[in-house]
Amino acid sequence: MIDKDQPILETRELSKRFSIGTRFSSQGKRTVHAVDNVSLTVRRGETVGLVGESGCGKSTLARCLVRLYDITDGRLLFEGDDITGKSLTELRPFRRRLQMVFQDPSASLNPRRRVGDLVAEPLRIHTDLSSREISKRVAELFDLVGLLPDHVMRYPHEFSGGQRQRVGIARAIALNPDLVVLDEPVSALDVSVQAQIVNLLADLQEKLKLTYIFIAHDLSIVRQVSTRIAVMYLGSIVEEGPAEELFATPAHPYSQALISAVPVVETTPAGTRKRIILTGDVPSPLKPPSGCRFHPRCPIAADRCRTERPQLTEHRSGRKVACHFPTLAASDG
Ligand SMILES: Nc1ncnc2c1ncn2[C@@H]1O[C@H](COP(=O)(O)OP(=O)(O)OP(=O)(O)O)[C@@H](O)[C@H]1O
Ligand code: SF4
Ligand SMILES: [Mg+2]
Repeated sequence: MIDKDQPILETRELSKRFSIGTRFSSQGKRTVHAVDNVSLTVRRGETVGLVGESGCGKSTLARCLVRLYDITDGRLLFEGDDITGKSLTELRPFRRRLQMVFQDPSASLNPRRRVGDLVAEPLRIHTDLSSREISKRVAELFDLVGLLPDHVMRYPHEFSGGQRQRVGIARAIALNPDLVVLDEPVSALDVSVQAQIVNLLADLQEKLKLTYIFIAHDLSIVRQVSTRIAVMYLGSIVEEGPAEELFATPAHPYSQALISAVPVVETTPAGTRKRIILTGDVPSPLKPPSGCRFHPRCPIAADRCRTERPQLTEHRSGRKVACHFPTLAASDG
């Protein structure tokens, strides 16, 4: 029996570091703090949007969540089962329930194989279905993602970008997963095609009762698809909350800057939202700043921010901020 209150996925202080050496020796090895201390809870049926600038660790976190990467520190739980240190064999039953869709479908689809074969692959590896049953399931999947039956014989290069992403999605849902991590699934597509893929993902979510983690640069898309949003900066989550609320009243100075850059399409009275331009470059994850990692770029940084790292703190149900001086409504304190 499924416990409805049980989070489907949970990370506890999860960190991922990469060790990089020089080309010719391991001397002078340095550490990339790609994901740092992330505690995130994902509930069944929701879409958690993950946003943040390039290099802030979104893809690394995504790959940790589906255990494509080993986790350096912290824990990863799937429906309460600790899968942090599970071996490839031990992970097999979880793999089929946890899938990922990548930004560039061309890179994840072998160009020398027909797409029908590519979509059939996970079924061959993870199920006992006969060839005939697999062909039937592939035809069903092609129909579900809006591809034609005779497309199964084509090679990836014979498709448009949008169609290739449909193939990537068919592959990801082949095993009836519970949770799909979508890493920039529409970023490489034309705007008109983006909308079609976003709609397809929404339909599939409803039909198949999927839970999504949706990563995108485009905040308007994240806002449109997400029930909840987590904002990442330099490997950590700095703010988390219900999508509409976080967009309307971002509490962390970094979220405020990100959201202020999104074009306002609704009827907002002129002048109510001012664009905040951040100065300075994103610091290197090789040498993160002391204290609050955002302090070198924060317009309201104080002395305390340079030495004391703010924790992600829940101010009221579901609204978390990692800042010593968050902008909160009077009722939030
Ligand atoms: N395999 C790796 N080895 C070393 N460093 C890595 C590796 N993968 C990622 N990094 C570094 O980790 C940091 C986070 O990278 P990541 O790709 O997760 O960011 P991202 O938020 O997905 O960026 P983008 O929006 O550009 O896709 C970056 O500094 C990146 O250079
Ligand atoms: S803790 Fe300080 S530096 Fe960091 S975001 Fe808040 S105000 Fe800015
Ligand atoms: Mg990425």
